[in-house]
Amino acid sequence: MKRVFSGVQPTGNIHIGNYLGALKQFVELQDDHQCIYCIVDMHAITVPQDPKALKEHILDVAALYLAVGIDPEKSIVFVQSDVPGHAELSWVLTCSSYTGELSRMTQFKDKSKNKESAPTGLFTYPVLMAADILLYDTDVVPVGNDQKQHIELCRDLATRVNGKYPGTFVVPDGRFLKEGARIMALDDPSKKMSKSAENIHSRISLLDEPSKIKKSIMKATTDSDGVIRLDTENKPGISNLLNIYSVLSETPVADLEKKYEGKGYGDFKKDLVEVTVDALTPIRERFEEIRHSEELMTILRDGAEKADEIARKTMKRVKENFGLGL
Ligand code: AMP
Ligand code: TRP
Repeated sequence: MKRVFSGVQPTGNIHIGNYLGALKQFVELQDDHQCIYCIVDMHAITVPQDPKALKEHILDVAALYLAVGIDPEKSIVFVQSDVPGHAELSWVLTCSSYTGELSRMTQFKDKSKNKESAPTGLFTYPVLMAADILLYDTDVVPVGNDQKQHIELCRDLATRVNGKYPGTFVVPDGRFLKEGARIMALDDPSKKMSKSAENIHSRISLLDEPSKIKKSIMKATTDSDGVIRLDTENKPGISNLLNIYSVLSETPVADLEKKYEGKGYGDFKKDLVEVTVDALTPIRERFEEIRHSEELMTILRDGAEKADEIARKTMKRVKENFGLGL
């Protein structure tokens, strides 16, 4: 079985974009892959964090992983900082990377724009990400398109090290989402739905109550021509809602267009509220059940143990190949 690795940062507001773009794929991959899903808390501290909130967010994401259907009997779920190999391998890879290539990462450029000096952790963020992936001899990394450049860097680092020390790393492949899987902000469909947007009605968080879901959808930006049709260029708002409806209800967009021929946006939105509430309610209920349970702690501890076992083997090989240690 091929090995899959992916990670999500422990931040609040995990939304339906994250679900449809990433988490849903994670669940589907479990059936025919050996999957490892990580909560990347060490990536989170590349920007300032409140320690209490960080801890809560780690557990939130862990509980969400399970609530959406990641099965700890099939997959390994763990917290990055619980496995020391990530930091260890990150340093080794740092020494195989160049400031030039890291300076070219668009995420770093965006986050350090107009600043004379940026946190070093933001600069080496992609190296830690490469370490996450290479530590587990990963074959496939399911991620959003925005991570393409980071995956390319990971492949470059692995290939570079293998050139010098053959057989050190498995060179992984990215598995990217289709453009259609991009969910846009409800209040401004020219932007991606995001965890950090100030307007809470710009997104539907996975744990939103039905009343909040209703409000956000009913307020969503549309247009004035009143036709329910997919046309991302001229009708980005309705197209985004159609997309959400389609993936949540597993109905082709064409069928929805037919269903809503001659109907108004109000009816369409009302039905979308129902579809969304129906899709998210079981997730929210499972989340509530597990979030404060001892079971969650046990799963994360077991996960870290299993991950560590694989990580140690890789680190042994890496250290041997580099001539490190005794
Ligand atoms: P982030 O929210 O940036 O930590 O992303 C976590 C995962 O969700 C990544 O794989 C992203 O590509 C994916 N993702 C984030 N926002 C969206 C969105 N609006 N639509 C689809 N996928 C998304
Ligand atoms: N950088 C990724 C993101 O923001 C998160 C991440 C960290 C990751 N390490 C990873 C994703 C390893 C895949 C594999 O989405």
